[in-house]
Amino acid sequence: MSDLKKIKEEFLSKLRGNLNLSEINQIKSDLFGKNGLISLQFKKIGTIAEAERKKFASNLNILKVELQELINSKINEIEINEINEKLEKEKIDITLPERSFVRGKIHPVSQTIDEISSIFSEIGFSVEEGPDVENEYNNFTALNTPDNHPARDMHDTFYLDQNKEKLLRTHTSPVQIRTMLKSKPPFKIIAPGRTYRSDSDQTHSPMFHQVEGLHIDKNINMSHLKGCLNYFIKEFFEVDKIKMRFRPSHFPFTEPSAEVDIGYKIKDGKIVIGEGDKWLEILGCGMVHPNVLKNVKVDPEKYQGYAFGIGIDRLAMLKYGINDLRSFFECDYRWLNHFGFDPLDVPTNYRGLSR
Ligand code: DAH
Repeated sequence: MSDLKKIKEEFLSKLRGNLNLSEINQIKSDLFGKNGLISLQFKKIGTIAEAERKKFASNLNILKVELQELINSKINEIEINEINEKLEKEKIDITLPERSFVRGKIHPVSQTIDEISSIFSEIGFSVEEGPDVENEYNNFTALNTPDNHPARDMHDTFYLDQNKEKLLRTHTSPVQIRTMLKSKPPFKIIAPGRTYRSDSDQTHSPMFHQVEGLHIDKNINMSHLKGCLNYFIKEFFEVDKIKMRFRPSHFPFTEPSAEVDIGYKIKDGKIVIGEGDKWLEILGCGMVHPNVLKNVKVDPEKYQGYAFGIGIDRLAMLKYGINDLRSFFECDYRWLNHFGFDPLDVPTNYRGLSR
C-alpha cells in the first residue's frame, strides 16, 4: 500500500471516532505540523521520479484537502455542541410562573384615590399632601373655627397632648391652609389623605379618607364649583348623566356652604347612580370664607374661590358595591383578593378608570 493510502486509512478512521478538541488539534499537528506526515510527503515531491511526480502531487493535494476539511468540520461540530450545551445549562424557562409568586392587589381605597387624582388632573388640579398629625391652628383656627366653636365638638377629635395643640387631623381641610401659606394665588389643588375621628360603626371608621379640593383665583364663583363637581361625579361613576342637588348647609370655613347629594335608585338589588328619586349625600363644599383667606394673607377683595371635601371611602363603597366600611381596614387577604385591583392597571381618564 502506498504511503498516501496508509495515511488516509489511518486518519480517516481516527477522525471518525469520538474526539475532543485537544485530540483533534493533536491530529492536526501530526498531519500538518512542521514534521507532520502530510508536510513530509510534500517535502518528498522533489525526490520522486518525474513520470510519477505529477500524479503523486495531485493525489497528495486531494488527500490534504480531504483531511483538512474533515478536521475543520469536526472542530465546527465540537464548537456547536459546546454552545448548545451551555445554552441548555443556562436556560431560564420564562413561560413558567415563579413558584412563590403571590400577586398583590391594589386596595380599593388606593384605586379610588388614583382615579380621583386622574380625573381632577385632567382639569388642571395638582395634588398636595399634608401630615396626619396636625396642629390645632391649621385644623381649626385658621379655618375660621375658633376655640369653643360648636363645630369642634362635632369632630370627635383625637388630641395628642394635654394642651390640645397637636391632634390627628379631623379632615383634609388643613391642607388648604398649608398650601396657601407656602405660595401665592392662584391655587388649584386637591389633597387626598387619611383623616381621624373617634367614631366607629358600619358607616364610620376612626380612620377614614377624604379628598379636599381648593380653587382660588380672580373671579371664581359658585357656578365654577358646580361645573367642577358635576364633571367629577360623571367621570368618577363613568356615567353620561348625573342627578345632583346642592342643599344649603353650614361649614365655618365656607360662605355660602352646601352639601351635595346625588340621585340614585336600587335596581335588582344594585345601586344605579344618576337615576331615580333617592338621594345620597357625598360631599360638603362652598365658597371659601373671607376670614380663611385673610388668615393665609390672601386678599379676599382680589381673590376668591371654592373648596370641597369628599369622603373617599363612601365613594369607593358606592362604586364597587362594598357595604361595610370596616371591611376596608381589616386586612383580610381574601377580601382584598376579591375587591382589589391589578397593580399594572393604573387608572387614567383616556384608558378607562376601572376595568
Ligand atoms: N372638612 C369638612 C368635613 O370634614 C368637609 C368640607 C366641607 C370641606 C366644605 C370643604 C368644604 O372644603 O368647603 O366635614
